[in-house]
Amino acid sequence: MHIDTILSPLELPALARRDLRGTACVVFDILRATSTFVTALHHGAAAIIPVNEIAKALALRKEKPEFLLAGERDGLRIRTGQSGGADFDFGNSPREFTPERVRGKTIVSTTTNGTRALNSCAGARQVLAAAFLNLAASAEFIRRENFTEVLLVCAGTGDSVAQEDVLAAGAMVDLLAAARSPVSDSSKTARQMYGQARANLTAAIGGSQNGRRLLGLPELSDDVAFCAQVDVFNLVAVMPADGTLRRAA
Ligand code: MLT
Repeated sequence: MHIDTILSPLELPALARRDLRGTACVVFDILRATSTFVTALHHGAAAIIPVNEIAKALALRKEKPEFLLAGERDGLRIRTGQSGGADFDFGNSPREFTPERVRGKTIVSTTTNGTRALNSCAGARQVLAAAFLNLAASAEFIRRENFTEVLLVCAGTGDSVAQEDVLAAGAMVDLLAAARSPVSDSSKTARQMYGQARANLTAAIGGSQNGRRLLGLPELSDDVAFCAQVDVFNLVAVMPADGTLRRAA
């Protein structure tokens, strides 16, 4: 198994020019998109449709009024200001996605980086949305499916590297890389960063740019500790070619 890691969102456009047909992409957006998606699926959501634009989310809901809308811009729930209740049902805090609110529902989500990162992996042999919350289950799935090429994708924040995503990628490298596994320099870098932070992961995540931003917003500060939990969900989130994220069978 060869493990490569994309550390920066600036590398994402180049994915469209790569042949990913033999590659399993694992997308991390720890604060908070992939943490939120695995939480919603754990709580019984039927599916999550990641879209890049707010207009696309609104159009999908117009087609299917039963769809729920979720997402953020600048970390806050999207308010379109349109009449007729077009406002979004959820922001992007995993704590909003309770079983009562999401069970059996299809949720359309658009976030600043996470949904774009997922959609940038279109065409890959397999696309996973992973987080610290379901790290071991995701690693076990990758091992079981015996992928030879694994690309870990750090969604980042805006055009910048997100430290928390790199830590999660490093943790995944740590789980997947057997002694002789060939890993890229970026994967080695992520693994070393994780090795230095693993003793107090919550503090490391809270010290990131995104972590500090969320900790400064009273209504969102608890998201940091929530997203820093490790292996609390035994589920794998996969996005087949139809672009819909679901719990793997
Ligand atoms: C993102 O997708 O960039 C993040 O999830 C943003 C956020 O949740 O604040």
